[in-house]
Amino acid sequence: MNITVTQGNLADQSAAALVVSHFEGQTNPSGATKAIDDKLGNAIRALIASGDFKGKLNEVAVLYPRGEILSTRVIIVGLGRQEDFNLDRARQVAGAAAAKAVALGCRSVASEVHGAGTGGLDHKDAARAVAEGTELGAYNFVEYKSKKEIKGLANFTFVEIDSTKLAAMQDGVREGQIIGECTNFVRDLVNQPPNVCNPSYLAAKANQLSAAFGFNCRTLDVTEMRDLGMGAILGVANGSREPAQFIIMEYLPRTDRAPIVLVGKGVTFDTGGYSIKTAEGMAEMKSDMAGAAAVLGTVRAAAMLELQIPVVGLVPASENMISGYAYRPSDVLTALNGKTIEVTNTDAEGRLLLADALAYAKRYNPAAVIDLATLTGAAMIALGRGGAAAMFCDDDLLRQQLTAAGAASGERVWHMPLYPDYREWMNSDVADIKNSAGDRNVGVGASAAFLKEFAEGYAWAHLDIAPMAFATKSQPMKPYGAGATGFGVRLLTTLLQNWK
Ligand code: BES
Ligand code: MN
Ligand code: ZN
Repeated sequence: MNITVTQGNLADQSAAALVVSHFEGQTNPSGATKAIDDKLGNAIRALIASGDFKGKLNEVAVLYPRGEILSTRVIIVGLGRQEDFNLDRARQVAGAAAAKAVALGCRSVASEVHGAGTGGLDHKDAARAVAEGTELGAYNFVEYKSKKEIKGLANFTFVEIDSTKLAAMQDGVREGQIIGECTNFVRDLVNQPPNVCNPSYLAAKANQLSAAFGFNCRTLDVTEMRDLGMGAILGVANGSREPAQFIIMEYLPRTDRAPIVLVGKGVTFDTGGYSIKTAEGMAEMKSDMAGAAAVLGTVRAAAMLELQIPVVGLVPASENMISGYAYRPSDVLTALNGKTIEVTNTDAEGRLLLADALAYAKRYNPAAVIDLATLTGAAMIALGRGGAAAMFCDDDLLRQQLTAAGAASGERVWHMPLYPDYREWMNSDVADIKNSAGDRNVGVGASAAFLKEFAEGYAWAHLDIAPMAFATKSQPMKPYGAGATGFGVRLLTTLLQNWK
């Protein structure tokens, strides 16, 4: 999609659809909405007066001008109540409008920047948010549909009357479009079926990105991992015909700042192994590499935005399968940092991959290490699908920065405790630690207590993104739809841009 900002009157644009917005509870349209309503002979006022359109957040209605303006349709989208309006709502509203335009088969759309006028938002921030929302709302995954009924948007123009605001808005739109595209890149990876997106596919994608956007990338194969002593990931990978990959991406701008290391769980399919999942529990498990995809997408965004902070992406990638070679409950594995792990549940595989990757991260002397993982069903139960990512972090500054980035980006994180007593649940009779407490009452905290043993010597945050990675038809990510959400790119890019 080509997204631009131009100076002018929205009403004068010629497009398949114009997008205007309206606050809930206001009787008369204002700003660009009023200007268009005047030309439409008060059709928008009539719509509002009828009660058929209330202006509730993300509510959409479509009007059809009959020659009064050049455009074929007017999409009006609800902003919700003015007192509740914020940056994320501007992003959502743009998403709802873009999704509607795509559903109507529009190729060209012209829109105001929601929130920049009466909404009172900073112009650059608002422009960035609406560009992100437009990319997210227009997204569809149609690669495997023989009949490509969805065309998608080709040209999207934001129209601003005030020429002094134009440069700031163009800056914002550029950033927002990059971040939106990188998020959709992540959604594509996660939506790929697991017979296509295996560990080697992830490695190939990372190599493509490195060539296209100019950062270093290399992968460790099984032999190299064995030589290093990464026994935990290799245990998980043993049952699969697809070899494990350890992907290392380094975006290193010229600066002496210490790098931020991002670690992403890359289980391309999680059957549970011999501690096998139910058919129902396995249904969404192609999304078990959503953390890995978010790391690829964030390094891509950092390189495209030319951020002035080094970013390293580490992705341990494996399948979790069953075969005559698969690891068993009771196996003992030795991780990269020398700690031994008794496998009490082969379905607690993600933490095994992360154990080796977190130990590997130490060699970068990082300013911080942040891991993203679809790690536990318990996180989803605790926070609800679409609620927030569970954030475990004892470093005050890192936690504050993540929380602030979550609020600004609309990708929420919720602080969870890392009580020392959680560790006792993980005591093993035969090894240094076991990978599962074997008691569902210990919940999401036990997984974080396990990871802590391998995240030594740096500031660390663990984000359990199981609640956020994948949306369903009955629980969609409003208003951006079902399937992969691309969670993490907006959060981490915002964090990196504002890093202190
Ligand atoms: N990938 C799953 C976690 C998951 C479940 C993510 C549902 C998204 C939706 C993870 O590998 C897993 O199986 N976790 C187990 C851990 C348990 C065996 C300690 C779980 O949550 O049941
Ligand atoms: Mn599992
Ligand atoms: Zn898993």
